[in-house]
Amino acid sequence: MTATVPADLDTFFGSNRARIEHELFDFLRIPSVSARSEHNADTARAAQWLAGAFGAAGLKAEVIPTGGHPVVLGEWRGAGADRPTVLVYGHYDVQPAEPLGLWTTPAFEPTVRDGRIYARGSVDDKGQLYLHVKAIEAHLRVRGRLPINIIVLAEGEEEVGSDNLGDFVRAHRDRLRCDAVVISDSSMFAPGQPSILSSLRGLTYLQLDVEGPSSDLHSGIYGGGVINPATALARIIATFHDANGRIAIPGFYDSVRDWDPATRAHMRALPFSDANLLKEVGSPALGGEAGYTTLERLWRRPTCEINGLLSGYTAEGAKTVLPSRAMAKVSCRLVPDQDPAVIEKLLQAHVERVAPAGVRVRVTHLHGGRPWRADLKGPLFDAATLALEAAFHRTPVIVGEGGSIPVVDDFVQALGAPILLMGFGLPGENAHAPDEWMSVENFELGMRAVATLWDLM
Ligand code: BES
Ligand code: ZN
Repeated sequence: MTATVPADLDTFFGSNRARIEHELFDFLRIPSVSARSEHNADTARAAQWLAGAFGAAGLKAEVIPTGGHPVVLGEWRGAGADRPTVLVYGHYDVQPAEPLGLWTTPAFEPTVRDGRIYARGSVDDKGQLYLHVKAIEAHLRVRGRLPINIIVLAEGEEEVGSDNLGDFVRAHRDRLRCDAVVISDSSMFAPGQPSILSSLRGLTYLQLDVEGPSSDLHSGIYGGGVINPATALARIIATFHDANGRIAIPGFYDSVRDWDPATRAHMRALPFSDANLLKEVGSPALGGEAGYTTLERLWRRPTCEINGLLSGYTAEGAKTVLPSRAMAKVSCRLVPDQDPAVIEKLLQAHVERVAPAGVRVRVTHLHGGRPWRADLKGPLFDAATLALEAAFHRTPVIVGEGGSIPVVDDFVQALGAPILLMGFGLPGENAHAPDEWMSVENFELGMRAVATLWDLM
């Protein structure tokens, strides 16, 4: 069976192209940086703006407060009780734009160059969320109805760990009850190659603080006789991996459930190139856990990464100082069935064991989320395959993912519906980095794929 993008919807997208892009740019101009309290008013404004966009698309919209940034809910339930209900999830918050000087054009002044929309949040996730809103609008404007009941849930805290969303989902379980969850907050395997996600990694995020002397000291007068917290921190984090790139924290791999042979074979058959990745990231060489291919290291295996380090004198020139403290941000990406709380305890115990005498070490929880693996069977995935084929003229591939979307596990636990992750980003899109972009073509085809999917459910 093959499908095509319905002509009436395709025409709508074509004739409204300029208006839709204009609206998306308004959305992208709002610096809804969830991590920064100085942007709280902007984040609130983005929520209000989005509720307005939901309303304009024909959804009943509501901004619902949480313990943090609000949830924006849009609903249309006119298809009738015998038709499926779909929950679409996305996020309107974005990562900080720093370092600002590395952007070719300003992060919150969306600009099109070479068929790409450059702006913070263009692909992660405002562009991908907005294409869903426009797919709904197309149905409601052109036909006056949707073939499914729909709930759109947009959160403003995804980039800071979705701390309040799990409670929100559990508290509104009845209202959110659905037959399928659809999320576009990920990337395609390659340009022109639509992709369905089979897994996400989870996350345990911690901060390590190492404290020594009660203030910075002269490194000549005291050095050699006082333990240096920066050196102590370096020694601690150097124990996280062995010489083969394996994580050396006792118990870390105990609950890793490996891919089944079929998934392994499928992933091995994907046309992945280490050389392309090397070009994309610009490192001198790739590396990781011995015995695994790069894609396996990214998708199948857990990690332990240092995300930030702070200690001592880092400004111009030299200063002979023995710092009083050192800090590291550490996060582990997790795979099924690793539990973020268990990994946090293992890491904490390990740090306490290896910490040298002469410093105090504190481990603080920042956030966590569970890994996820899909069961890619059933009518939802068949329909998604057809819809992606209709828009992209190519059969989707199944891919893994190294990133995390914490709420996915909450959806699994609270709603029990199958979850479809079909993203429209691309490799090299610079998510979380300067010059983030989304392909204009993928935005256009993404709208068409999603609008087609609703017809096929
Ligand atoms: N959209 C990403 C997650 C993602 C990235 C999925 C690439 C698929 C492909 C999401 O916005 C994100 O960055 N999530 C954070 C979650 C964290 C802050 C808990 C992440 O993965 O670091
Ligand atoms: Zn995202």
